[in-house]
Amino acid sequence: MQRSEPPQSIEQLIRAYHPGHALAQGFYLRQDVFDQDMALLLGRWTCVGHASEVAAAGDWLTAEFGAESAIVVRGEDEVLRAFYNVCRHRGSRICVGDRGSAAMLTCPYHAWSYHLDGRLRGAREMPATFNADDHGLQPLALKDIGGLIFISFGDDPPALGDAEPALGAMTRAYGWETAKVAARRRYDVAANWKLVMENYHECYHCAPAHPEFSAVHTLARPHARRLRTGLAPTAGVADFEAWASEPDGREVARVMRSELLEGCVSGSADGTYLAPLMGGDGACVFAELGFLSAFLAYPDHGVIYRFIPRAVCETAMEVIWLVKGDAVEGRDYGLDRLTWLWDITSVADKTIIETNQAGVRSRAYRPGPFSLMEPGAQAYVERYVRELEARLPTEQGAAP
Ligand code: FES
Ligand SMILES: [Fe+2]
Repeated sequence: MQRSEPPQSIEQLIRAYHPGHALAQGFYLRQDVFDQDMALLLGRWTCVGHASEVAAAGDWLTAEFGAESAIVVRGEDEVLRAFYNVCRHRGSRICVGDRGSAAMLTCPYHAWSYHLDGRLRGAREMPATFNADDHGLQPLALKDIGGLIFISFGDDPPALGDAEPALGAMTRAYGWETAKVAARRRYDVAANWKLVMENYHECYHCAPAHPEFSAVHTLARPHARRLRTGLAPTAGVADFEAWASEPDGREVARVMRSELLEGCVSGSADGTYLAPLMGGDGACVFAELGFLSAFLAYPDHGVIYRFIPRAVCETAMEVIWLVKGDAVEGRDYGLDRLTWLWDITSVADKTIIETNQAGVRSRAYRPGPFSLMEPGAQAYVERYVRELEARLPTEQGAAP
């Protein structure tokens, strides 16, 4: 810190928060705040991929989250399960790499092996007192919502309530249950995760930073919400918001139908379709569930956005492109054309977010007011502050 005053406590930072404004510098630069953030986020739901990536028994993928790593694996019984990626012998990671397929999960260190349902299968040269039943993999909560795989590292993840059917309506209407992953790309951003999320939640920057996005989406225009007035919830997808609720155990969630500009039917360079139709009725739908997962459904393809905080000023953004399950690359779609809009948009976001972080480091930084085109970012920040506050130690002692 370049300031001469003694650093404030996290509680003081929270108490000094001015609603309607960006966060104070400490929220974006301090290790102790980041540690609190990770404790908050670990307990929430986060999307780790699409069911088609683990379609067959033995298919697995890993998902990193701070110091944690999860294995998501399809069992012989077709059931998807999630486990901590930690061996019950001496703690090695078991699955190394992003994904794979195996008849059993074998630790690379001393070759303990696990059944696909997590039970310990084999451990060599153990004493007679050793009980294999006590050494299965430690399970994590998992939910498959219309092909989207969510996990939580929390012991008691929040109930999803109405958010699950709301998101499920979108995945059904847009054919995501039977979709397949066409591409996955990662963008490393040298910025605090909250700057990344604030950026994702407002389109004030779209006109100056994303001319390509602005050429097809009404969201980039002032009063985009007013443009949506009268947009009927056809195709069974109704708007849904769980932004404003107090921290009552419910997860953050939003489903929002949005118009494309006249003459545009998809998120492409010329507004035309990129791939075989999957569903929907012409509009696109933005959705999110949890603090770190966002979705965008076009009639002919889908986009999953995963945000992964890695360090105080390091965040990975992962973009996953979905197409119809039986679409064939080269015949039905081209990867360059399919990924063009959200690749160019993500690269531009990386640049503006990193430039934002650089300015926030200055001693001259003061949190400024949100504009009328940033209600999503404002709601996100205010919700974050409320949830962090709810986790502060109470006068009686323990944090809830
Ligand atoms: S740490 Fe996994 S077998 Fe030893
Ligand atoms: Fe952006």
